[in-house]
Amino acid sequence: MALDMDVNSNGPRTFVQTAQTIGELDRWEQISEDEVAMAADMTRRNELSGGTPVVRDFEQVWREWIGTRFAVSVVNGTSALYSAYFGLGVGPGDEVVCPINTWICSIAPALLLGARPVFCDIDPDTLLIDPDDMARKITPKTRCICAVHLWGNVCDMDAIIAVSKETGVPVVEDCSHAHGAKYKGKMCGAVGHVGAWSLQGSKAVSAGEGGVVATNDIDAFERACLVGQVNRIAGIDLVGAKYEELQPLGLGMKFRAHPLGIGIATVQLRKLPELNQRRAAYFAEVEAGLATIPGLRAMTVYQGVERGGYYGFPVIHDPEAMGGLPTSEYVERLKTRGLRASLSPYPNLHDLPLFAKGFDIFTRNRGPLCAEEGYRGYKQGDFPKAELALKRTVFLPVLSDPIPGAAQTVLQVLREAARDAG
Ligand SMILES: Cc1ncc(COP(=O)(O)O)c(C=O)c1O
Repeated sequence: MALDMDVNSNGPRTFVQTAQTIGELDRWEQISEDEVAMAADMTRRNELSGGTPVVRDFEQVWREWIGTRFAVSVVNGTSALYSAYFGLGVGPGDEVVCPINTWICSIAPALLLGARPVFCDIDPDTLLIDPDDMARKITPKTRCICAVHLWGNVCDMDAIIAVSKETGVPVVEDCSHAHGAKYKGKMCGAVGHVGAWSLQGSKAVSAGEGGVVATNDIDAFERACLVGQVNRIAGIDLVGAKYEELQPLGLGMKFRAHPLGIGIATVQLRKLPELNQRRAAYFAEVEAGLATIPGLRAMTVYQGVERGGYYGFPVIHDPEAMGGLPTSEYVERLKTRGLRASLSPYPNLHDLPLFAKGFDIFTRNRGPLCAEEGYRGYKQGDFPKAELALKRTVFLPVLSDPIPGAAQTVLQVLREAARDAG
């Protein structure tokens, strides 16, 4: 979740968006010689395009790991979601229900398919979709629900699946923050109808840029291949006859992943269990320690959830219980003391003019965000719980290989910065 901007060079401005080692508290190196060797070997073999052996192996490993019948790699998480939505038949005139506090790429692909995002509120103690509000937002036009396992915490999938069963609306799980997370023993991404992951450079499994879409649903999978896997050949892993005459060119769109990225992700995936274990232990120690700091508390984790990926470390700040210290000031105090803390890196989506006011996406007053087509926009107050959460959430550093005592050091800073408040 880091963005290093190079503003001083005379050449083009650049940015590198990979996961970062957090100062002196963390020993983690995201990339080792193993990833370098994999990329070098693949380059020497000129294994640089197509459904190469490394790509095919990765997809096989992914489906066995997640426990779905199908999985296909794509260029990024955004195209994984595009493929998932297209797979489920999301199109013009449809609605997709999505939490208001997610990264814009969770829902943008549905928008570009012509569907209208219908946002719902969250549970402010988890930052995850509120299944009751989600249910209220379902209409006869709803084609899909997007459940986002934000920051590596896992949605209340029993409640979501119950609504899905009752209404017949399928669920896409956006697992971009939650690699390896589980719900009641099942891998996230296999609980709903289609799972989508980002393998972008700052994620727990990085391809640099990459993504995966996985499902048990033959039609969703074949449609995902139709829309983004030009030259995916029937008989490799396309299984039905329904779209056979359209193959191998499909719809002529290409979201195929770069094999080098998938090679790197192959190595990263092997390291994930250890990474998750270390992050989990660090989160647990800090979260347990929060009990001793009035005004801070951990996010709730639903029953049966095993978090994974740990893309961000949100905790809840209560200014009242901290002598009236506003959350933004508390974060400043943490930063002054050298802790890499922040307010939410994501806006609530109704804070963006795109969704607040709407936009003529397809020009000539067409498209799901046009007043002419009935879009009414959003305003402050529409999502009270998400608005509250945005104001009172503090993000702590995610340490991946903490030095001994790092969690206690973080707690010490949290305690010191809270002291003398009010
Ligand atoms: C929740 C969520 N969904 C989707 C995406 C899109 O993934 P990508 O950047 O690989 O396109 C991201 C990226 O950070 C994300 O955080």
